[in-house]
Amino acid sequence: MTHRPLLATVLGQRQERPPIWIMRQAGRYLPEYRETRTQAKNFLELCYTPDLAVEVSLQPLRRFDLDAAILFSDILVIPDALGQKVRFEQGEGPVLDPVSAETIAALKPERALDHLAPVLETVRRLRADIAPDKTLIGFCGSPWTVATYMIGGRGSTDQAAARLFALRHPDAFAALMDVLVATSVDYLVAQLQAGADVVQLFESWALNLDDAAFASHVIEPNRRIVAGVRALVPNAPIIGFPRGAAGNLARYAEVTGVNALGLDYATPLDFAGKHLPGSLPVQGNLDPLRLVAGGAQMDARVDEIITAFSNRPHIFNLGHGIVPETPIEHVARLVDRVKNG
Ligand code: CP3
Repeated sequence: MTHRPLLATVLGQRQERPPIWIMRQAGRYLPEYRETRTQAKNFLELCYTPDLAVEVSLQPLRRFDLDAAILFSDILVIPDALGQKVRFEQGEGPVLDPVSAETIAALKPERALDHLAPVLETVRRLRADIAPDKTLIGFCGSPWTVATYMIGGRGSTDQAAARLFALRHPDAFAALMDVLVATSVDYLVAQLQAGADVVQLFESWALNLDDAAFASHVIEPNRRIVAGVRALVPNAPIIGFPRGAAGNLARYAEVTGVNALGLDYATPLDFAGKHLPGSLPVQGNLDPLRLVAGGAQMDARVDEIITAFSNRPHIFNLGHGIVPETPIEHVARLVDRVKNG
């Protein structure tokens, strides 16, 4: 038995009130984050400087009674660690020099973990700094989502570059996915050994795929990561968040073997009862814009979500990341509503 309510929920033990954390809970909606951010010369340096990364990871827990800290880093540290150039442009999001069939062979998985050593140091310090009842969440991006940035060079609404690349260059695409699976396994195992209680697989672009592509690009690589991590850390607690998976959600949960399933906000509240095993823990799924708007509509929806998942282990969260324009008072209200009714 663990004394960490959020971890216990991932492991299948329902709590009287749902534990809560917020995707992207450290970030620009907090003035103290914006302040710390100015101390690093760029965003990746913030991720690779343990003093600063620990500080921003702890900031949301100082303000709100959250049940978990999440490691402050980004899913794009993996391509950076593999030797692909990654920059974060103000107002534009991430920009990468796109990989090609030729440059995929030149990626350097052998140096990735050394490059990520400062992130693992952040995990160790966080576990030492947070209260014993708080769960520490580690994470990585799932291979398909990371590949969409590596191939497309930036975020896109339809992931067309990566979808076409997979069709035109199946061998190079398979080689890229193999590198990402292997590197993600090593990285998550290292996070768990450094003190993470749970790890989350962020598959933020699980949409726009036909069911054959979903099976090969999303389900199979996530399944291999879960199996690979558990081969080295038996029973490692894993949350899968395949955003946009819709009709593929149940199969994703069943085949990958994740402990808990993150639901995006477009997932109907009766979906779990109809299509998921009754014992499967779920996480989610408030629309982040309801948190921006706040007030009675937010309170009512929070209550609906809690009621809808009251018969299974449930971790309260947003159905995608918090946005920079979110008022801090609304976050305080949300946490209080979830924890105290
Ligand atoms: O949850 C947390 O607080 C931990 C930190 C975290 C960040 N990114 C910090 C960040 C996590 C878990 C992520 C994951 C991530 N990064 C995802 C998956 C989750 C999702 O939201 O879908 C994705 C797709 C990325 C890639 C990424 N990083 C994008 C598209 C952007 C730019 C968009 C944006 O929100 O600015 C980033 C930058 C980023 N990652 C910021 C933060 C706090 C903002 C950078 C800044 O301070 O300028």
